[in-house]
Amino acid sequence: EKVVLAYSGGLDTTAVIPWLKETFNYDVICCCIDCGQGEELDGLEERAKMSGASKLYIENIVDEFCEDYIMPCVQAGAVYENKYLLGTAMARPGIAKKLVEIARKENAVAICHGATGKGNDQIRFELGITALAPDLKIIAPWRMTDLWTMQSREDEIEYCKQHGIDLPFDTKHSYSRDRNLWHISHEGLELEDPSQAPNYDDLLVLTVTPEKAPDEPEEVTMTFESGVPKTLNGKAMKVSEIITELNKLGGKHGIGIIDIVENRVVGMKSRGVYETPGGTILMEAHQQLEELVLDRATYEVKKNMGNKLAQVVYEGKWFTPLREAIQAFVTSTQKYVTGEVKFRLYKGNIIKAGTTSPYSLYNESLASFTTGDLYDHHDADGFINLFGLPLKVRAMKLMEEKNN
Ligand code: ARG
Ligand code: SIN
Repeated sequence: EKVVLAYSGGLDTTAVIPWLKETFNYDVICCCIDCGQGEELDGLEERAKMSGASKLYIENIVDEFCEDYIMPCVQAGAVYENKYLLGTAMARPGIAKKLVEIARKENAVAICHGATGKGNDQIRFELGITALAPDLKIIAPWRMTDLWTMQSREDEIEYCKQHGIDLPFDTKHSYSRDRNLWHISHEGLELEDPSQAPNYDDLLVLTVTPEKAPDEPEEVTMTFESGVPKTLNGKAMKVSEIITELNKLGGKHGIGIIDIVENRVVGMKSRGVYETPGGTILMEAHQQLEELVLDRATYEVKKNMGNKLAQVVYEGKWFTPLREAIQAFVTSTQKYVTGEVKFRLYKGNIIKAGTTSPYSLYNESLASFTTGDLYDHHDADGFINLFGLPLKVRAMKLMEEKNN
């Protein structure tokens, strides 16, 4: 019988290969899913095979990740607990989908992942897999504490050695990281104590701190069509290329570094640092354009939908009717999100430098303090009377009570 293993090439998932064979006698099919983590994939097949896997799939899902997961979240303005741009969370459903696809192709009976029993990722992988393939068995070694007895990296290295796998793995304890095109997350080490400042010099991978960013601002122009970014500084590019380019620009200018204590689904608070340089710019630019074209009532409902979607994505409930319905609403609001956005990047800041849209609802004659014939000031008298009527009725009631 076959099992499909979500494989990164790191120590944890490498140790899982001999363990799956020894514990369950499975034939192990490794699957490395490239979401833009920028890791060296050369030599990975050799590594998987020498660890005992019978096959390695390397699947690039970067464009699918951008189109099917990132853009819906950008358009919705989905941000978890006011800060987290969901980089890890929104990659999980696409990974789960790919794992299921490979499992079907290989006629596997199970899927195995290396997420721990304390985190969110186990939930996201497993809800994703269950929603797409309810019959597949899921194996989470880290939760099988009677069968998986390795407690540390040293234990894992020793276990690998005993199974003839001699690889140059690092024993030093490092941050727990997850990287893809959208972001990199950091957890562990000094971050586990919220009273400590992050050790940014060792930590940052995609960005520099604003202190180290250039003293000169850099101007950027983007265009959008129906909520999708189309050009960057005049050049037409696909979304993945735009995000790649924005990552470089944002990284250079210290954009998108977040330090948060967040609430995990499983109950505990957890402290993390995220770098989302390109994503932060993309979301801000998109929002800048929406300010011009969305009417007030739609904007308000959309804000609630964005919050709801953030929760849905964080909790791993991507393949659900609720996510589909929210996305349908958001898509309908994007029809007129077309136009050009300019801004300057400067020491961690994104400074607006002008927005235009053929669908702009901004009317200068209406908004201006000096001009206008569309707006008659006298109309405001009656409007305020009616708008304030319930306040007035209540105030009169209160006065009446006080006088009695
Ligand atoms: N706390 C973040 C989240 O729940 C990041 C998780 C990072 N995952 C990882 N395997 N290192 O989305
Ligand atoms: C893990 O526990 O595997 C990583 C962190 C998380 O899933 O929240």
